Amino acid sequence: MTPNGASAIGTTVPEEVAFQQEVPKGEPILEVRDLVKHFPLTKGILFRRQVGAVKAVDGVSFDLMQGETLGIVGESGCGKSTLAKVLMNLEPATGGSVRYKGEEISRLSGAGLKAVRRNIQMVFQDPYTSLNPRMTVGDIIGEPYEIHPEVAPKGDRRKAVQDLLDVVGLNPEYINRYPHQFSGGQRQRIGIARGLALKPEIIICDEPVSALDVSVQAQVINLLEQLQSDFELSYMFIAHDLSIVRHISDRVGVMYLGKIVEIGTDLEIYDHATHPYTQALLSAVPVPDPAARADRDRIVLVGDVPSPANPPSGCRFRTRCWKAQPKCAEEVPALMAREWLRELAAHDSACHFAAEREVDLEK
Ligand SMILES: Nc1ncnc2c1ncn2[C@@H]1O[C@H](COP(=O)(O)OP(=O)(O)O)[C@@H](O)[C@H]1O
Ligand code: SF4
Ligand SMILES: [Mg+2]
Repeated sequence: MTPNGASAIGTTVPEEVAFQQEVPKGEPILEVRDLVKHFPLTKGILFRRQVGAVKAVDGVSFDLMQGETLGIVGESGCGKSTLAKVLMNLEPATGGSVRYKGEEISRLSGAGLKAVRRNIQMVFQDPYTSLNPRMTVGDIIGEPYEIHPEVAPKGDRRKAVQDLLDVVGLNPEYINRYPHQFSGGQRQRIGIARGLALKPEIIICDEPVSALDVSVQAQVINLLEQLQSDFELSYMFIAHDLSIVRHISDRVGVMYLGKIVEIGTDLEIYDHATHPYTQALLSAVPVPDPAARADRDRIVLVGDVPSPANPPSGCRFRTRCWKAQPKCAEEVPALMAREWLRELAAHDSACHFAAEREVDLEK
């Protein structure tokens, strides 16, 4: 029986009742397996032929659990935004699978895709370009109701939009203002209100605070945390800096050149990282205590991320890794817990020589 009492037997599930089953807290709500996104590189004007591919996402697997925040971290160009867009089906996947509540969604279209889009929302990096400058805040936040009238508030839509403004900490009387009348932090709050309008279950935040002043970043992160507990949201929180996601993440996945190279709980990643890339990113995280900073053996990452059109053989990080051995050029390291690691170090890491660093950061 559907919530409105009609039987769904013998019909396809109507759009308005699709994906309504609840997932218990801590169970997977999104299951991503071997996800691949290659952008073809073509040559020629009349006869365009493919000469290669930008391997932006190249075999990514993880689960997002109900109610958790999964941080995804990596330098610019590692494929984080592409991963987000493929999960949202804004870009078609080249291969692999994305299951939402057990249903494959990566090849959906039409009504099925529309139902998914209602439940999985995205908050973008740049609050300056992601809001239409010619629309009022009320129209921007209420626009999802035009696309999904089945979940629009039955009565006063204006009131619903004002309530959303209130929820994200903006004055409901600002409803007729335009985006340029707000600060960066306020605009990101508008983007978040818009993302909440349809009561989604998952929000993918793509560097939501990277364009904001440091003083404003914490406020927006606190707001996202508050909303998560109020509305039982599951978050994927993308950042290029491990320090930003530390406070908000239950688990963290580290991405390098289209792959997840290490994934674990916040304690496993921040205090027991075993992949050299994660260790290098952590070494770049500012440490508030000057004594700890002076004692620390810093790793400086040299060079840029190589081109995803032509990634290094074997381990993709080997051209920048200080621990690289001949094996690293020959064999792709699997993402798994190595048998020689114990306790919190024994989490998934894609390094042939995974090991914790000797340096004592507590000193
Ligand atoms: N539409 C596209 N066509 C071709 N290459 C793309 C496209 N979008 C992204 N890329 C490339 O894919 C790689 C990953 O980009 P992106 O996902 O934006 O990384 P991140 O968000 O981690 O900075 C980059 O090399 C980027 O240039
Ligand atoms: S597999 Fe080799 S190159 Fe890759 S991170 Fe480990 S030691 Fe470095
Ligand atoms: Mg990005």
